[in-house]
Amino acid sequence: MTEDGATTRVGVIILAAGQGKRMRSSLPKVLHCLGGKPLLSYPLKAARQQKPERIAVVVGHGAEQVEATFAGNDVVWALQENQLGTGDAVRCARRYFEGFSGDLLILSGDVPFVSTRTLATVLMRHRQEQAVLSLLTASLTNPKGYGRIVRAADGSLRGIVEERDASGEEQAIREVNAGIYTARPHFLFSALAEITNRNDQGEYYLPDIVGVALSQAKKVATVRLDDEAEIRGINTREELAMMERVLQERINRRWMGAGVTLKDPHTTYIEEEVVIGKDIVIGPNTHLLGHTVIGERCRIDGNAYLTDARLGDGVHLKFNVVITDSVLEEKVEVGPFSHLRPGTVLKRNVHIGNFVEVKNSTVGEGTKASHLTYIGDASVGSETNIGAGTITCNYDGFLKYRTTIGDRVQIGSDTQLVAPVAVGDDAYVGAGSTVTEDVPAGALALSRTQQKNIPGWVERFRARQKKKGEN
Ligand code: UD1
Ligand code: CA
Repeated sequence: MTEDGATTRVGVIILAAGQGKRMRSSLPKVLHCLGGKPLLSYPLKAARQQKPERIAVVVGHGAEQVEATFAGNDVVWALQENQLGTGDAVRCARRYFEGFSGDLLILSGDVPFVSTRTLATVLMRHRQEQAVLSLLTASLTNPKGYGRIVRAADGSLRGIVEERDASGEEQAIREVNAGIYTARPHFLFSALAEITNRNDQGEYYLPDIVGVALSQAKKVATVRLDDEAEIRGINTREELAMMERVLQERINRRWMGAGVTLKDPHTTYIEEEVVIGKDIVIGPNTHLLGHTVIGERCRIDGNAYLTDARLGDGVHLKFNVVITDSVLEEKVEVGPFSHLRPGTVLKRNVHIGNFVEVKNSTVGEGTKASHLTYIGDASVGSETNIGAGTITCNYDGFLKYRTTIGDRVQIGSDTQLVAPVAVGDDAYVGAGSTVTEDVPAGALALSRTQQKNIPGWVERFRARQKKKGEN
């Protein structure tokens, strides 16, 4: 219950059926990503925080794709077969709110940053003022593309006019419609029956219900916001990029405040769910994505692309690394130019050097693979040294096989380990070997042909060639 005794029941309608023509894309607009997540996930999250009884998402363009992307979410899908405008879109969700007597919150699928607090304020004002309709507005330095809020000289609301229908004078208005409303269901659906599509786009405009309310002398409340970013909608790729920047700056500021040094915040991209410890130094062009977790006192030199990576304390990533779904324990060093693919586990103090790729493998404590190596589907023990140019040959074109290497092993340079194969503890493999059979613990394996030196051969060869030339 609120102060005035009204119920706090809330239902939500999110409008997401439009194609997003201005994106010039075959992907529905609400599936374009911002901060690594589809646009629609933002209003959805904000909606959930109002603890609604039901969330209806109106879909149309690419409906199947949108529904599949959000499968498993606690929402109902309302289909708008033809995109006849935002007013028509709301009408399509009507059947989910038959008999519902709470407040309906209407959000746009393309307005991602509206805060929980703002939505709560709109709902509260709506109840306090006992309005049939409440809307969120803001004054923008550049109001281009938005519906303008038209007011009388005394400041009272007169209506909303879309930019393409606005007179020159109206276009100069800087207060705009955020596309976020609260309405009483009974008023909303009866008003929607009255609007027409007599406008420049031939569409049924949801904002036209403002005019309906005013003509019936019903109360319309407005909440005016100061924060521009909160109400910004995304219609073009340029706006998407701008919002990406806004989001990034916000996240980077938060991490700098928490003790993380960002050498170049403009080229540091950290996604929302990432967790970073204290005293971390992060160089330019670093991407920390997904559920990446960084321990304390780590150094990331730069050009790093980490997705779902877990770094323990004191890890050092040298310039140019790509790490996906991998675990790096304390004090591991990786790079420059290394690629850790899914399923990699590097135990404490492992060193992975330049042009080394590791996939679906565990590498034991203190082991080093410093140059030009592929370790795939392998278990490598601790304190082992993998020489330059070593390759686990794990694939026969049909199946993948495992390679097992023990502790304190020395794998000579340019070795091929043809899986399935095992190298026992303390074994040595001579450089240039192709290992096809298991190597027992403590043994030396050699598979290269024996070297033959032919004394004086060069002198004889040269003499022969010279003679040929004279003939
Ligand atoms: C809309 C408002 C405008 C406001 C702006 C704020 C209208 C007519 N105009 O304009 O006053 O300033 O938002 O961002 O409402 N949609 C459907 N079905 C449709 C048409 C649109 O579901 O038939 C959805 C879109 O997918 C989008 C949302 O409604 O998520 C808004 O539509 P859009 O075309 O982006 O409206 P704007 O021109 O931005
Ligand atoms: Ca829009």
